[in-house]
Amino acid sequence: MPVYFDDAFVPLSQARVHPLDRGFIYGDGVYEVIPAYGGHYLRLDAHIARLERSLAEARIANPYPAQRWAEILTELLSRHGGGDASIYLQVTRGVAPRDHAFPDCPPTVFAMPRALKPVPTNQVERGLKAVSLADIRWQWCQIKSISLQGAAMLRQQAIDAGADEAILHRGRWVTEGAAANVFVVIDGAVVTPPPSNWLLHGITRDLVLELAAQVDLRVDERPLRLKELLAADEIWLSSSTKEVLAVTQLDGAPVGDGQPGPVWRRVWDAYQAFKA
Ligand code: PDD
Repeated sequence: MPVYFDDAFVPLSQARVHPLDRGFIYGDGVYEVIPAYGGHYLRLDAHIARLERSLAEARIANPYPAQRWAEILTELLSRHGGGDASIYLQVTRGVAPRDHAFPDCPPTVFAMPRALKPVPTNQVERGLKAVSLADIRWQWCQIKSISLQGAAMLRQQAIDAGADEAILHRGRWVTEGAAANVFVVIDGAVVTPPPSNWLLHGITRDLVLELAAQVDLRVDERPLRLKELLAADEIWLSSSTKEVLAVTQLDGAPVGDGQPGPVWRRVWDAYQAFKA
């Protein structure tokens, strides 16, 4: 499998990361996951723009201008060959002797394609199970940081409880999923929390909001209370790999009638048409 590492396209087996890489030692890096369908990226510019924001906020040097990122990612996708794919892209602060202070070294860039499997039909038709959990992550969730220990622990806690995903809250406010943004439907309107430091500004989230408006749904970006989540008619999760999926069970109780809802279905149909 071809990957991009250290300014070159090489087979994955030849890419070697130094043990003193800040990504390995500190989890000091940022990443992107970018979906592609039929050899074309979905919203590549938005992903590159978010990468630029993550790098700037983490104060990691950006090795390339946007145009060069697009060229590298496009070449990687074409080397990967056909089919749907997702590209995992990571930039760390580079290799340096262990010291918390920022070193003066070039960043490490790694990008890897992987086949993007269709979202399983049973997840589309039956929806996901979720549990609500206190958000234990750090406070800069707008940065797409590779430090995912908190998110991994929350996802595993959800799985251990027999669910697929955790929906997180800080006190009475809903933030997002462990690896997805969250939406609810209340009285026919689609509600999702606004971008802030408490959640990742998802590229799929923005697309879902655009598609919801296109199919004439009311869209409301506003802080979402946990009690509204627990009483919502529908709950959805969105991400580059999940697209938009309904949550049909929360904390062991059915959401609405326990089936993916009619409002979700309109947006899911629009999403399928959009990516085709
Ligand atoms: N995660 N929130 C969190 C915490 C995420 O990790 C993700 C995506 C999202 C959705 O963002 P987007 O729509 O841009 O994919 C929201 C990716 C897919 C991952 O970590 O694999």
